Amino acid sequence: MSSRVQIITEPVDISRSIFDLLGGEPGVRALVDRFYDLMDIEPDLKELRAAHGPSLDEARDKLFWFLCGYFGGPDHYIQRFGHPRLRARHLPFSIGIVERDQWVACMGRAMEDEGIEPALVERLLQSFFGVADWMRNREG
Ligand code: HEM
Repeated sequence: MSSRVQIITEPVDISRSIFDLLGGEPGVRALVDRFYDLMDIEPDLKELRAAHGPSLDEARDKLFWFLCGYFGGPDHYIQRFGHPRLRARHLPFSIGIVERDQWVACMGRAMEDEGIEPALVERLLQSFFGVADWMRNREG
């Protein structure tokens, strides 16, 4: 048995930030817009949509600002609102397994629609799943 580390995922170019790989601000904006467009129209994401208010406009801006910093770009969210404290900020919304899974599925479809490289999609979905799971605040 070789002592080499087993490579279990496709390699991703780590010489550039994820922010750059996604096309900077225009790329992140397009991803977030596709994410909320899908949330608005896809019948199998209806519980996730119902957890949001009538308008998704504020959520679009906030997720865009947040993801720019999360992916290694400018810290627009922190400059406006301070530390993200995502779990605390999500406590007003009921989040269980259904909402977690619909959020991650919605993001996966949005990334595919935006033509993001499959190896990067896979890696980002794993990381988003961890965050979304930690956001759960309801049994079931
Ligand atoms: C990886 C998972 C997630 C990330 C990165 C994320 C990110 C964010 C961010 C940055 C905000 C803005 C917070 C603020 O300043 O008020 C937000 C708001 C919100 N999130 Fe999430 N979220 C995630 C998962 C979820 C899930 C699973 C739900 C399910 C219900 C959810 C529902 C909401 C709602 C309802 C808002 C308020 C939108 C508004 O202001 O109109 N989020 N989220």
